[in-house]
Amino acid sequence: MESDGLSSADQKLIRESWEKVNSSPIEHGLVLFTRLFDLDPDLLPLFQYNCRKFSTPQECLSSPEFLEHIRKVMLVIDAAVTHLENLQCLEEYLANLGKKHQAVGVKVESFSAVGESLLYMLEKCHGPAFNVNVREAWTKLYSIVVKAMSCGWDVPRKVE
Ligand code: HEM
Repeated sequence: MESDGLSSADQKLIRESWEKVNSSPIEHGLVLFTRLFDLDPDLLPLFQYNCRKFSTPQECLSSPEFLEHIRKVMLVIDAAVTHLENLQCLEEYLANLGKKHQAVGVKVESFSAVGESLLYMLEKCHGPAFNVNVREAWTKLYSIVVKAMSCGWDVPRKVE
C-alpha cells in the first residue's frame, strides 16, 4: 500500500476532519449510505438479513442489522485514520474484507459510488471547511483503502 501517498499535511487534515464525524459515527454513516442508495439503488438487494430483502432504502436504513453494518464501515475507516502512517498493517485485513464483499455480490466498481458518498458525507459535515485540500487528502486515503480491498477480488487466494 502506498502510505507514502499521504503527506504529513494530508494526514493532519484527515485526522482533524475525522474527529467530528467520529463523534457520531452512525448519524454520519446514515448520511453516507442514504447518498449511496440514491446514487446506486441496485446495491439495496445486496443487504439481506435472514434472507429477507428490503423493499425500500428507508426500510434498510432503519434496520438494526444494517445500522450494525454502518457501525462496521465507520470502524474500518476509523482504523485507517488511526493507522495513516502505517496503512500496510491493514492490507491483509482489507483484502479479506474485499473477498467477503465479493462473496456477497459487491462489484469493485461499486466502490466508486461509495467514495463519492463518503466525500458527500464529509462535505455535509464540514461545509466550506471541507476545502479542496481536505477533499484530496480523503480521496487519496480512500483510493488506498479500495486498492487494498480490491486485492480480495484481483488476486487468487494464496496457498500458504
Ligand atoms: C457497495 C457497498 C457495500 C455493500 C453493498 C456492502 C455489503 C455488505 C454485506 C452484505 C455484508 C455482510 C452482512 C453484514 O455484515 O452486514 C458486509 C459486511 C461488512 N462490510 Fe460491507 N458493504 C459495502 C461497503 C463496505 C465498506 C466501504 C466497508 C468498509 C470500508 C465495509 C465494511 C464491512 C465489514 C467490516 C463487514 C463485516 C465483515 C465480517 O463479517 O467480517 N462495507 N458488507
